[in-house]
This record gives sequence, structure tokens and C-alpha cells, in this order.
Amino acid sequence: MPVSVKILGAKDYADSFDEREAFALDVLSGLSAARKSIPSKYFYDRHGSELFRRITRLPEYYLTGCELEILESRWERIAACVAGQPFNLVELGPGLSRKTMLFLERFRESGLDFQYVPIDISASSMDGLVDSVDARFPDLHTQGLVGDYFHGLKWLNHRYRRRNLVLFLGSSIGNFTREESCFFLRSAWKCLNHNDLMLIGFDLKKDIDVLLRAYNDSLGLTSRFNLNLLERINRELEGRFDVAKFRHFGTYDVFSSSMESYLVSQERQSVFIGQIGRSFAFEAWEPIHTEHSCKYSISDIEWFARQSGFKVQEHLFDSCRFFTDSIWSVDKAESVRPGAEGEAVAQPLGSERRL
Ligand code: TRP
Repeated sequence: MPVSVKILGAKDYADSFDEREAFALDVLSGLSAARKSIPSKYFYDRHGSELFRRITRLPEYYLTGCELEILESRWERIAACVAGQPFNLVELGPGLSRKTMLFLERFRESGLDFQYVPIDISASSMDGLVDSVDARFPDLHTQGLVGDYFHGLKWLNHRYRRRNLVLFLGSSIGNFTREESCFFLRSAWKCLNHNDLMLIGFDLKKDIDVLLRAYNDSLGLTSRFNLNLLERINRELEGRFDVAKFRHFGTYDVFSSSMESYLVSQERQSVFIGQIGRSFAFEAWEPIHTEHSCKYSISDIEWFARQSGFKVQEHLFDSCRFFTDSIWSVDKAESVRPGAEGEAVAQPLGSERRL
């Protein structure tokens, strides 16, 4: 079976000079703000990805285990939604995960007619992914798309008139702000056809102690993962962070129902970053915000679906009800468009801040 990788708009992505430049600019604007921050997308260099892979295997970081349990025990429900006609199994931001492999394995065994279409912005991780998928499933047609998600979905729809099942696994949506989530979901809706499906992972609200343990594990992997951001600045941007002078801090914000992760400067200091050509001053105990991981109620999830033009088909839960994979269908027939319901739709708790 042909395995191919299509680079969409190659000039916009590829080269590492541009990536480094973008990293430097993001660090410059993030560390110049009154409330310092560094975008979480920079966690995942080679070291960060390996640390995150180890975090996902910790029992304290329940999210991955719960989602694996859902997919393992309920994949037939998902298969039933797409059975009977050829379809695209699209995965946004795949990463070589046990969850993807499980999906592909079960779907292949049950004789469904589909091609696998991972979409990712990073050309290098896409090469690794399609090679591994091909080695494991030589009969599967895999079409990797390198580009942004919406560009990829549009390209796919021009090319193949097939139903799409779009996977957005993990709790990636939880790392968006409320506004970003609405933008992401509505953009996906626009790129898809009536009755296409999305399966989206949402981490649910739960006992705060469980959350605090998940983001402050006892082996200290989360702390190393967070601090790796500063090490990455040192490696790639000639930063001079003394990582020992910062600490990881993960805390739950009850109003926005999200875990917020910070790197806190433990003393007053100034740090020079060579590639930016300037120093950044830190007060003692000043934080850098690094991650926002929202936790949802079922009514929050249903609100997002309604607002962005989807119909909830089903919520699939793990046995602890810690996590849900929610199956939504694209609804382009409904005459009342999102927004027409307007202010009458109650907003999720805390949505006036971040969600
Ligand atoms: N985005 C993941 C999450 O929200 C990654 C993550 C896990 C993370 N633990 C973290 C990010 C700690 C920053 C700090 O679950």
C-alpha cells in the first residue's frame, strides 16, 4: 500500500532557521509581558517529548490510562459510527502513541475500509510516524499531511469525497483558552462536511487532590518536563538560565477549572539570552506561566458542541469517569446557526476568564 507524506505549503514550514526565529520571538514577547509566559508548544523538543512519554506512563497522570481504557473497551461503538462506507481516519497532531496504534489495530482487524491521515505541523515527526505505521501495518493506506490542521482538512476534502472521522485525542483541547477552543472547533466545522465525525478527548472535573498529583508527580518528571523549557532556551537560543534557580509549580484554579503550570524564579535575578541579545529581569518568586490544562463538566462540553455547530452523539467514559472521549457529528442542516441562540446559552462556569 502506498504510504506518502504531503507537505502543504512547504515554504511556510520546513526550515529550522525559521523555527528558531519564531521560538526567539515567542520567548521575547512572552518574557517581556507584565505576566511572563512561554507558549506550551515549545515543550515538545526531543527531550520534552521523551519526558512527556514517561509522564503518560505514570499512574498519577491518569489521563492517558483512562483514555486508553475508553478506546480499548468502546472502540466498537466508534467503529459502528463509520462502518459501511470508506472513510478517512484523520488524526490531528498525532505523535506516535499507543492510542493511535490501538485504533489502527482494531479498525484493521474489523475489516473497516479506511485510509489513515495524520496531520501535523512538524515534517520530521511526520516522517517518523508514517514509517512506524507502515512497518506495523503494511497494508494500510497512510497519507501524512504536513501543515496546519485546517489547511490539511481542506486539502483532504478537495481530494477525497469520503466521510471523515477526525480524532483529537489526549486533552489537547484543554490546553486552549476558551476563545481558542471556539475558534478551533468552528474552523474544523467549516472544513468538514455534514455528518462527518469528530472524537475529542476532554479531561473531566474531579477531586482536586487527584488533579494536583497528576501535575506534580512524585518522581519529579513533571518538574523536569516543565524546566526543560528553560533548558531548551539555553540549548537553542544561547540562554543562560540557571535551572536550579527556578521551580515547577502546578496549581488548580477553581474559577476557570484548570490546572495552571508555572516556573517560579526562586530569587531576584537577570538572565541573558544570546539569540535575543538582551537580559530579562525576574523578581524573587516571580512566575512564568507555561501551561493551561482545562477540566470540563458534561454541560461545558455540550456548550462547546452547540456553539460550534456540532451534535453530540455520545460521551464515552472510563470506569472512574475521570475522562471522556466525546463523539460529535457535523451539523450543517440545522437552520439555527450557532450564535443565533445568542446570549440565551449559559456560558460554562469561569468562562469569562480562561477555559
Ligand atoms: N498538555 C498536557 C496536559 O495538560 C501536558 C502536561 C502534563 C503538562 N503535565 C504537565 C504541561 C505539567 C505543563 C506542566 O495534561
